[in-house]
Amino acid sequence: MNILFCGDVVGRPGREAVKRYIPRLREQFALDLVVVNAENAAAGRGLTERLCGEFYDSGVDILTTGNHVWDQREIIPYLDRDPCVLRPANFPKGTPGNGWRLHLLGEQRVLVINLMGRLFMEALDDPFARLEELLQEFRLGIDAAAIVVDFHAEASSEKMALAHFADGRVSGVLGSHCHVPTADNQILPGGTAYQTDAGMCGDYDSVIGMQKAPAVARFVTKMPGERPQVAEGEATLCGILLETDDDTGLARAVEPVRVGGRLAQYLPQR
Ligand SMILES: [Fe+2]
Ligand SMILES: [Fe+2]
Repeated sequence: MNILFCGDVVGRPGREAVKRYIPRLREQFALDLVVVNAENAAAGRGLTERLCGEFYDSGVDILTTGNHVWDQREIIPYLDRDPCVLRPANFPKGTPGNGWRLHLLGEQRVLVINLMGRLFMEALDDPFARLEELLQEFRLGIDAAAIVVDFHAEASSEKMALAHFADGRVSGVLGSHCHVPTADNQILPGGTAYQTDAGMCGDYDSVIGMQKAPAVARFVTKMPGERPQVAEGEATLCGILLETDDDTGLARAVEPVRVGGRLAQYLPQR
């Protein structure tokens, strides 16, 4: 199975990159599933029902989120109506929306899990314990043909630790939230694919997708200043292409994808 995961889509440039490149990538790599983290899609803050529809029209199957999920309040009731938009599964019990989705692809079922880290961000319930609960319920290769985890976290240590915790039990632990792609894509000894961060889909002539001057001024002056606005240059779509074995659900290959914009371009050779 071929699965593409794209990191945080930041504002209009990020959405345009998704619109432009996802249909091509779907065809070129015979993608079975496309998962996109959309927590910054609406002007850098959250996402809306209309934007969810635009993502689906571009060929995205599942939307994940993170700490910015509630920034647009209209999404709160929508999360209970649309099972394909996820919020981290380790929000306290009773929070609106779903933290995972068992997605039907013909005869096969793929489990997508969204989790959020607790280091250097607002602490939710324990993501390790939450993942353990879910993996007791869903066994890779038996209950789901593939299991993909979007681990939305700040600390690389926490991300690596969760990947080793899940090694051999999920197809991939793929990171988001840092807005920068890392070069550590690998298959762990137990067969789980890992990359610390997929990187954002956004303008990289920026400070994590937002206009650079106000962001720099904020560090220089230590004053809040104006509200950060999305950087409007052409985005690089950053993602991770994961190929899984249809029998075991484990990873066969994991490679970065970088198209458009300023970053060095990279497409897997298949
Ligand atoms: Fe983000
Ligand atoms: Fe985030």
